[in-house]
Amino acid sequence: QPHDDENVVWHSHQTDKAFRAKQKKQKPCVMWFTGLSGAGKSTVAGALESRLAELGHHTYLLDGDNVRHGLCRDLGFSTEDRRENIRRIGEVAKLMADAGLIVLSAFISPHRQERQLVRDLLPEGEFLEVFVDTPLAECEKRDPKGLYKKARAGEIKQFTGIDSEYQAPELPEIHLQAGEASVAELVELCLESLKQRQIIR
Ligand code: PPS
Repeated sequence: QPHDDENVVWHSHQTDKAFRAKQKKQKPCVMWFTGLSGAGKSTVAGALESRLAELGHHTYLLDGDNVRHGLCRDLGFSTEDRRENIRRIGEVAKLMADAGLIVLSAFISPHRQERQLVRDLLPEGEFLEVFVDTPLAECEKRDPKGLYKKARAGEIKQFTGIDSEYQAPELPEIHLQAGEASVAELVELCLESLKQRQIIR
């Protein structure tokens, strides 16, 4: 996209994405895990990253809780802040994919519009939406950080699934029934999908 200021010009460098992909024997992509708090996004993404690392792949995991300690520490959970959170992460994921990495991102990213925005940042086939589909009742039962309890008590406002909307993906590339299968099974499904798409061999 052209910059608003005509004096800010894009510079194409010689060592490009295609070169790096060939060198690393993997195609870059962004695996965008989305789902409710407590659905298992970080757990599955983390376990998948370990498997990919064992197989010799070069990855990076962008994780909601961690990014909110740094890059996005100025943002809260209003609709506008969540949008800005996802926009920044999308741009970072794009840079990392350009560096040749398999990027795993684990953010609630509750709105379709923002996920579409990230999809549109990347070339066709490089954005894989991974729906970590755990029913709200199960997430609330797990409640690993005690946040649902606080949200129900009104101590946290705008909590996703309670008083803030989660818009489920309509056509995710990977759909994980994460309330039923084990983490190991979900990781296998992700690996199969990466192979099928020839991102890894
Ligand atoms: S978002 O919606 O994509 O911008 O959210 P994300 O950056 O992934 O951050 C979600 C984690 O923040 C904690 N938390 C909340 N989540 C949802 N709603 C509210 N109001 C909220 N306040 C704090 C929560 O621990 C989320 O962690 P996960 O790992 O998803 O359980």
